[in-house]
Amino acid sequence: MKDQNSETITETVLQSFSGCANPRTREIMTALVRHLHDFAREVRLTQTEWRQGIEFLTATGKKCDGIRQEFILLSDTLGLSILLDAINNRREGESTENSLLGPFYREGAKDAAFGADIAQTEGEPALFHGRLVDMHGKPVAGALIEVWQTAANGMYEGQDPEQPESNLRGRFRSNAQGEYAFRAIKPTSYPIPDDGPVGKMLAATGRHPMRPAHVHFLIEAPGYETVTTALFSSDDTYVESDAVFGVKSSLVVEYVLRESKGAKPYFEVERDFVLIAKE
Ligand code: BEZ
Ligand code: FE
Repeated sequence: MKDQNSETITETVLQSFSGCANPRTREIMTALVRHLHDFAREVRLTQTEWRQGIEFLTATGKKCDGIRQEFILLSDTLGLSILLDAINNRREGESTENSLLGPFYREGAKDAAFGADIAQTEGEPALFHGRLVDMHGKPVAGALIEVWQTAANGMYEGQDPEQPESNLRGRFRSNAQGEYAFRAIKPTSYPIPDDGPVGKMLAATGRHPMRPAHVHFLIEAPGYETVTTALFSSDDTYVESDAVFGVKSSLVVEYVLRESKGAKPYFEVERDFVLIAKE
């Protein structure tokens, strides 16, 4: 029998996985234990601190229900969600980059006509339009484009009983030229849900919970890779410090103010999306 010390214990645990039949499970568990033990050794983790860590993870689990998923929020705020996207969805050349889906996506958005206004609450009017094209610039017709964003009060319709059903959500289709267009409002920045353990972690580490203003897009077209992305406002205070690290410079857009006599001023955002054909 071999007594364990702070160095030998790691190898002993790794050996315990030698009978693991699934090679991927073994690979993941081996790396997990190696990094976990190295982490504990590196910071010389005390037992009191680990107990606090367990209490934090327990509280995170308790905060989860059918709507709230605190573990995903933890993954988002630690940059793990966007890291996994970068590892698993390498985008070539000019193709549109992904961003986070986020917890406020709701299935079943209503179909809306080309150019329709999805805002049922007040805000600064904005027109979003552009083209869906493939990597060769060929239009992608008949694609489904789902969009959702917060109202001027920084809340999604699903978070706010005061907002009308389907406010600032809609499902559009690109036309024969690959074009899409819809009207909404210029979005505002908003805090991610921070009334739980993740909010405490942000406060304890001197971080703010804000996401820069953005509009979410989920684009699906037969024969093309699905794009889950968002367009971020260039003039937002938090564009360089998104609480969930979802901003990419290629997804930052300008809201151009259009004013003409006798018409209500509005912002215009013109943005094309480049889809990758599935092999
Ligand atoms: C969102 O953009 O809706 C979001 C993304 C990640 C965490 C929280 C909110
Ligand atoms: Fe969002």
